[in-house]
Amino acid sequence: MGGLVYFSSGSGNTARFVERLGLPATRLPLKGNADVPELAEPFVLICPTYADGAGRSAVAKPVIRFLNVEANRSLLCGVIASGNRNFGQTFAMAGQVIARKCNVPLLYRFELAGTETDIARVHDGLQTFWGSRCLTPA
Ligand SMILES: Cc1cc2nc3c(=O)[nH]c(=O)nc-3n(C[C@H](O)[C@H](O)[C@H](O)COP(=O)(O)O)c2cc1C
Repeated sequence: MGGLVYFSSGSGNTARFVERLGLPATRLPLKGNADVPELAEPFVLICPTYADGAGRSAVAKPVIRFLNVEANRSLLCGVIASGNRNFGQTFAMAGQVIARKCNVPLLYRFELAGTETDIARVHDGLQTFWGSRCLTPA
């Protein structure tokens, strides 16, 4: 298995999702001035969406700072995005933005803290994903 990295704001939905997954994961700092972690192994990123009404700023600042570190970006293997379907067009948009910019697959989308089905799918899906790929970045 590769690693897991996630961001979760004060509302903690993504943190609850990751906790229920039961897999080791690195939480990105909430504050912009905190040290940016540097990952040492390939990882999948789990990221909520924070777009404005026009679909801008979908990706939270600490996630941008983390991905601006080339060493981290080169180890990113895929993204799982979350959001709230009430936002319509911009549902889980952070996933599309990151997938496109970093050229990695958008593996899954879920709402808020996810359902039992989401947890099971992501848990099994990650195992299949890591099992099917070479863990050494190309
Ligand atoms: C200011 C704000 C903007 C948001 N914008 C979007 C959005 O554009 N699309 C979406 O799917 N969810 C949006 N959400 C919902 C969050 O992505 C959702 O609540 C998520 O579960 C938050 O995760 P967290 O509690 O781990 O930070 C927004 C939430 C807030 C507070």
